[in-house]
Amino acid sequence: MKIAIVGTGYVGLVTGACFADLGNDVWCVDVNAAKIESLQSGQIPIYEPGLKDMVKGSVQNGGLRFTTDLGEALQSANILFIAVGTPMGEDGSADLQYVLDVAREVGQKMVHHMYIIDKSTVPVGTAKLVRQTVQKALDARGSQLTFDVISNPEFLKEGTAVSDCSRPDRIVIGTDNEAATKVMRELYQHHVRNNDNFIFMDIASAEMTKYVANAMLATKISFMNEMANICERVGADVTKVRMGIGSDKRIGYHFIYAGCGYGGSCFPKDVKALVKSSADTGYVPRILQAVEAVNHDQKLVIPAKVCRRFGEDLAGRTFAVWGLSFKPDTDDMREAASITIINELTARGAKVKAYDPKAEKEAKTCYLKDNDAVEYVSSKYTALVEADALLLVTEWKEFRSPDFEEIAKRLKEPVIFDGRNQYDAAALKEAGIEYHQIGVGE
Ligand SMILES: NC(=O)c1ccc[n+]([C@@H]2O[C@H](COP(=O)([O-])OP(=O)(O)OC[C@H]3O[C@@H](n4cnc5c(N)ncnc54)[C@H](O)[C@@H]3O)[C@@H](O)[C@H]2O)c1
Repeated sequence: MKIAIVGTGYVGLVTGACFADLGNDVWCVDVNAAKIESLQSGQIPIYEPGLKDMVKGSVQNGGLRFTTDLGEALQSANILFIAVGTPMGEDGSADLQYVLDVAREVGQKMVHHMYIIDKSTVPVGTAKLVRQTVQKALDARGSQLTFDVISNPEFLKEGTAVSDCSRPDRIVIGTDNEAATKVMRELYQHHVRNNDNFIFMDIASAEMTKYVANAMLATKISFMNEMANICERVGADVTKVRMGIGSDKRIGYHFIYAGCGYGGSCFPKDVKALVKSSADTGYVPRILQAVEAVNHDQKLVIPAKVCRRFGEDLAGRTFAVWGLSFKPDTDDMREAASITIINELTARGAKVKAYDPKAEKEAKTCYLKDNDAVEYVSSKYTALVEADALLLVTEWKEFRSPDFEEIAKRLKEPVIFDGRNQYDAAALKEAGIEYHQIGVGE
């Protein structure tokens, strides 16, 4: 099939690569000329496991091409995915300007019938806005061309995006006519293990499904973090409580880990956008407001523990930070807990030595670029030299089983603050390391 994906970010590039890998003819389009140039020259602008080889293979066989010119892609493509960003607007709502820019340009440049598929996360009603915007542009040209708008929210997870996209656990599709449903079935026929993976529904419900999924996951995290904070105060251990509750099948083990708060490009903005959509209807979503508030405070738990141990004035102190990305296996730092934690420490006079396997560039050039108190080092053990304590912020695999003797030897004092509850407290005690966790009474 002939496909154009507009927006070549985490979602668009992975989606484009996966469709091309299945033999489709795919154009990836982006307004960011530097990004497209680097892709054309074989560079992958993001880190996502497995993506580089997949892109390379499809580029070599001509199935995947990159352009800044949407008109060029629309000469052949009759299926178009909108995969541009929907960042948080000033009032918390999803900012739809990029989605509607694409819709306008499609209306201006399409040359035959188009299936326009919204993959960006957008609030209920956006498909209608896209339809109106495309139609307005067609009317301005005096064109009689026709098109369908379909909602197909994306559920891939950064870090496992390639496998999530190649073998999705479900494909949610919102359509309002049979022809569009048929095209979507054909498009995804090789992604599905069986027909149960397709979930067809009306467009509004499909748009809402994505928000409800992310709100549910964010709620689980904030709920567990709240339980962790209670555990800590009453003298219980949330890691044991987790095992105790997860064995109940109605609860399950997934997504009930306590930590130093959720971040990323989706949960924070999607929860906020749902709060706003809800408020616009006059309904106050109290659970979602609490989910957000708990998450905001949770990012401050590690700095608070550091201050309790070393005092509010951290001048003269240095802290080693392991992990900057919002989660392992990605270089994405959007809304990462590391940003809050590091800024809280350095605002109190501390210096930070940070190590992350993939996100250093993002930190340096964007999220921590104004923070001169951060030094970036090239290995986890180098970060420890002359540091007063180690803070584990992102649970990359390489931090799971470190050499604790080496840690104790390199730090000024053997102290670890673990924002992801990765280590065995008893083993650390035996190694003479002072260990501060989330949700464990001390
Ligand atoms: N990142 C994820 O894990 C994830 C998962 C599911 C859904 N989503 C949703 O998918 C959407 C895209 O997210 P992302 O993380 O890939 O974003 P991103 O910021 O990585 O990429 C968006 C891209 O769109 C481009 N763009 C903006 N306006 C454009 C235009 N008019 N024409 C062409 N390109 C344009 C930008 O230059 C950028 O490269 C968002 O709505 C997001 O909420 C993201």
